[in-house]
Amino acid sequence: MDHFALNNGELFAENVPLADIAREVGTPVYVYSRATLSRHARVFREALSALPSVHIAFAVKSNPNLAVLRLLASEGYGADVVSEGEMNRALAAGIPAADVVFSGVGKTRRELTAAVKAGIGQFNLESEEEGVELAAIAAELGLVASCALRVNPDVDARTHAKISTGKAENKFGVSYDRAAGIYARLSALPGLDMRGLAVHIGSQISDLEPSRQAFLKMGALMEEIRAGGLKVTHMDLGGGLGVPYKAGDALPTPEDYGAVVASVARDWGVTLMFEPGRVITGNSGVLVTEVVRVKQGTANPFVVVDAAMNDLARPAMYDAWHDFLAVKPNGRTFTANIVGPICESSDTFAMGREIDEVAAGDLAVFRTAGAYGATMANTYNSRALVPEVMVDGDKWAVVAERIEPATILAAETVPDWLK
Ligand code: LLP
Repeated sequence: MDHFALNNGELFAENVPLADIAREVGTPVYVYSRATLSRHARVFREALSALPSVHIAFAVKSNPNLAVLRLLASEGYGADVVSEGEMNRALAAGIPAADVVFSGVGKTRRELTAAVKAGIGQFNLESEEEGVELAAIAAELGLVASCALRVNPDVDARTHAKISTGKAENKFGVSYDRAAGIYARLSALPGLDMRGLAVHIGSQISDLEPSRQAFLKMGALMEEIRAGGLKVTHMDLGGGLGVPYKAGDALPTPEDYGAVVASVARDWGVTLMFEPGRVITGNSGVLVTEVVRVKQGTANPFVVVDAAMNDLARPAMYDAWHDFLAVKPNGRTFTANIVGPICESSDTFAMGREIDEVAAGDLAVFRTAGAYGATMANTYNSRALVPEVMVDGDKWAVVAERIEPATILAAETVPDWLK
């Protein structure tokens, strides 16, 4: 459930007409609903309430906006970060360092050092080599880094290949067969406190059976490690729960997910950790765009909008579907292609789709754009970096300004020898 709905024939975010925001801020613009974010955060937490000890670390990569992080901090969420930049955002939002999990396959020495100094709560190690390096850094600083070992369970998440992470050929984690040995060797290093295991098999998961298989494998590995006399007090089960992108899509709910987790892990005697991203932010945001013009095509008309693949990369990158709705629908529909202005054929949001009838100057939204939307935006074709707005009841605020092409141009220089 979200708080984007028609009110007297016009699309609102909570109590604010999207047209008001578009008029004042311009388009394209991302709009987030505070009530939806809070609701999703609470629903996800509630779905895990049968578990004895839970830590939820919001996957910052899905939406790193400072206001979004601040809101989730106030809901008691920690953060799952994958770079020093994300770590600093989480800390700036008021998330305690102890509640931050540092993931990522390529943490640099500089990042590891900064994170140890900041007192980050858990490092999810992606390799033995990384663990050895982190141990040396921590020992030199006279500190101890709490760690989980990320394991690649070789389970197919049955999601899009580009967002699948738990197959043996993926770059993530250590192989299942080598994990217990690596865990034991890293446990012996001063500077590290090996306290658990981590797994994450992919994103936009729409079938919970692969997750269940992965959790079962992790439970068996946990027992094997404990049988070797080592402690396992934390098990990080990652994120990945999918969300409906199409009206009417039936996806497993947070309750379904919580039930699967509980059926496997309730009695593990650990703190269970989670890294949800999309399920919290996905349906909490829309991308508002204006129709530049409607151009005649061969089979269908092209609806050319002022948002492009640089603003919302998911359709171009993953053939992702985002529902497209007119802000003031006239009640009629037509079959059209929806495209952006960028000079690439991949700048296509939909082909031959039945959508609300729109004309030049009309406003429309791409739904389910709160996750992996603004954060993946870039300035290709020397376009602006898209702004972000948060709505809260009757009020709203710009929470990330549009960065104009002129600002980016100003950061570039022509060297003397070219002048
Ligand atoms: N934990 C780890 C270790 C991850 O790699 C990810 C996502 C998450 C948690 C959060 O997953 P979520 O709950 O959001 O599914 N850009 C792609 C998605 C990439 C996901 C990368 N990792 C997209 O737009 O679909």
